[in-house]
This record gives sequence, C-alpha cells and structure tokens, in this order.
Amino acid sequence: MHSIQISPSASKEELYQLLLPQIAELVTNEPDPIANMANVTAVLKEAFGFWWVGFYLVRGNELVLGPFQGPVACTRIGYGKGVCGTAWQMGEVQIVPDVLLFPGHIACSTHSRSEIVLPLFKNQSVVAVLDIDSQYLDAFDETDQRYLEKMCAYLDF
Ligand code: SME
Repeated sequence: MHSIQISPSASKEELYQLLLPQIAELVTNEPDPIANMANVTAVLKEAFGFWWVGFYLVRGNELVLGPFQGPVACTRIGYGKGVCGTAWQMGEVQIVPDVLLFPGHIACSTHSRSEIVLPLFKNQSVVAVLDIDSQYLDAFDETDQRYLEKMCAYLDF
C-alpha cells in the first residue's frame, strides 16, 4: 500500500518532480491499465486540488469516460467534439486558459474555468486522453504539459 508524499509549500514544478518517481513506482508494479489510470487521477487530484481529473478512452468513434476523480462528468464525447475530442482529432495537447473562449467546449461543470487535455498514444494512434479541469482561469501551461506527458508515459494501455 502506497501513500503519496506531498510537500504543501512546493512550487508546481517541485511538486511534479516529487510525484514523478512515486507515480513511476506505483504504476510499474501494477499491470492493469484501469487501476493505474485510477491511481494517477487520485494522485493528481490530491496533490494539486484540481477540480476534475480523468481519462477518456477511445471506443470506436467516441471517447468514453474512464477512471476519474471529481464530480460526475459527461460519459461520451464525439471525435473532434469539445476540448477532448479536439485533442484526439489533432493528436495535440490542448491548453485552454478560458474554457468559455474555446468554441465547442463541452461544459460538464460550470465550475470548470480552464483545462488541459493530453492525447495518449499507443502504436502511433490516440487511445485515450487525460483531461484536467481547474476552477481557476489560466491554470495550465507548458510545465503541466511536460510533466503530465512524463507521467502518462509510464502508463500502458
Ligand atoms: N470539457 C471537456 C469535457 C469533459 S469534462 O471537462 C470532464 C471537453 O470540452 O471536451
């Protein structure tokens, strides 16, 4: 049984640096992808207090809700729809400083003000996305992108 060590005074970058090896250890000892995605969402929610953290999994021509932490969310998102579907379609990270300014943003919660979505690949195809919502405007930047990519690289799908 693991407990995640979090320093309350750490900067965002320091926190990611603290978490990375802990996540590596957590997920490399467990082969089941759902269990690992679930724990990654728990770590991120607990460490950063994000409003919502979750995975959507590619199932046919839709994304279907996977392991998450936070309020109830939309279960299905079409290809190219919303921030998640756009990340899937473009195969590129989406950093949205103000969700109200993103055309087609899907509002699962009115409390969500900014968002980051990373496409996750297996054999050059997007198989899932990691979606994180913040209740604050402009909460995400390239630091989040860099470390979240490193964290997700430990996951196998
Ligand atoms: N806002 C997302 C939908 C998922 S929820 O934020 C959990 C989107 O526009 O794709």
